[in-house]
Amino acid sequence: MGKQTENRKAEHISICLDKKAQARKITTGFEDIQFVHRALPDVDKERIDVSTKVFGYKFSAPLIIGAMTGGTAEATRINAAIAEAVENLQLGMGVGSQRAAIENPKLTETYSVVRKKAPTAFLIANIGGIQLVHGCDVKEVKQAVEMIDADAVAVHLNALHEMVQPEGQTAFKGVLDKICEIAGKLDKPVIVKETGAGIAAEEAKKLEKAGVKAIDVAGAGGTSFAAVEYYRSETGSIQHLLSDIFWDWGIPTVASLIETAQTVKIPVIASGGVRTGMDIAKSLALNACLGSVSQPSLEAAVKGDEATERILSLLVEELRNVMFLVGAEKVEDLAEAPIVVMGKTAEWLKTRGFNVEEYSRRGAR
Ligand SMILES: Cc1cc2nc3c(=O)[nH]c(=O)nc-3n(C[C@H](O)[C@H](O)[C@H](O)COP(=O)(O)O)c2cc1C
Repeated sequence: MGKQTENRKAEHISICLDKKAQARKITTGFEDIQFVHRALPDVDKERIDVSTKVFGYKFSAPLIIGAMTGGTAEATRINAAIAEAVENLQLGMGVGSQRAAIENPKLTETYSVVRKKAPTAFLIANIGGIQLVHGCDVKEVKQAVEMIDADAVAVHLNALHEMVQPEGQTAFKGVLDKICEIAGKLDKPVIVKETGAGIAAEEAKKLEKAGVKAIDVAGAGGTSFAAVEYYRSETGSIQHLLSDIFWDWGIPTVASLIETAQTVKIPVIASGGVRTGMDIAKSLALNACLGSVSQPSLEAAVKGDEATERILSLLVEELRNVMFLVGAEKVEDLAEAPIVVMGKTAEWLKTRGFNVEEYSRRGAR
């Protein structure tokens, strides 16, 4: 990896740490989702089981840390802290794009540290869809998997980010065919994820048909990569103006989650601005299998593994408390809990032809 790429990675981290790169006007839509409180919860809080099984792996709670980093010394420390925390809690995590280490094997350790620190946690390798079109083949993807002894691989889609950065690659033609090829030739599940702009029903359907094993919606409302580029670019430059305009571009996380979950049968992961255990509970009620959190884990990880474990434990505890108040004894019960979809999220979904009433009619009345 050249000095330039290394600087870019370091800048991503410092800009995201300052929280300057969060959505400005667009919101996730979690504020439009409301559980119906159960005054007679027929459960004992101590007996609530938050564990879940996805891809045949038993997660102690439906929570993973989203792909973020690798390639620099600071990234090694961040990856190590997150890995230790997820190992202790028996959760999962993704690493950042591994292209850097595929091109320069000297950087392997900045990623492989995660398997060293997390011998049994669920680990997700990462490669860009755009790299599949330009040079990365099945061999390189297998290399990324082996590098961290991954349980799955995520292919990230980041058209918005590539578009607003001066060094970005925007020749995306053929990306779906490459994803299909990789999904067919790899013996690990291939997850396709966005990076903050969401996935619509139409794309979800194509990805399922391509043989992808799960979709991580990574919708709008949390970290914005246009915002990251706004801060990286020179004031007054085309990139600066473009990234300002596209700062809040994307499908809000909840709309993306509902569109995708109502369209495909493969597991759907909720991410993009997931910030609380309540957000995770709402995601599961909307039929996600896991919630994924990135920016808040980055903030904790720079403080160390204990700080990371603390915030992850808090998210799980919040989830458990929501489950109590809606009378859910097991994670699957959340998918039966009545919820009301309101506001702009309901408007979006009705306009796009999705059913929002069915959620409120769940459960015996
Ligand atoms: C510092 C940083 C670096 C990231 N790098 C990657 C990456 O290399 N590959 C990827 O798939 N997603 C990457 N992401 C995107 C996240 O996985 C996630 O989709 C996005 O941040 C939205 O989640 P959040 O709102 O919880 O941060 C990165 C996010 C952050 C904050």
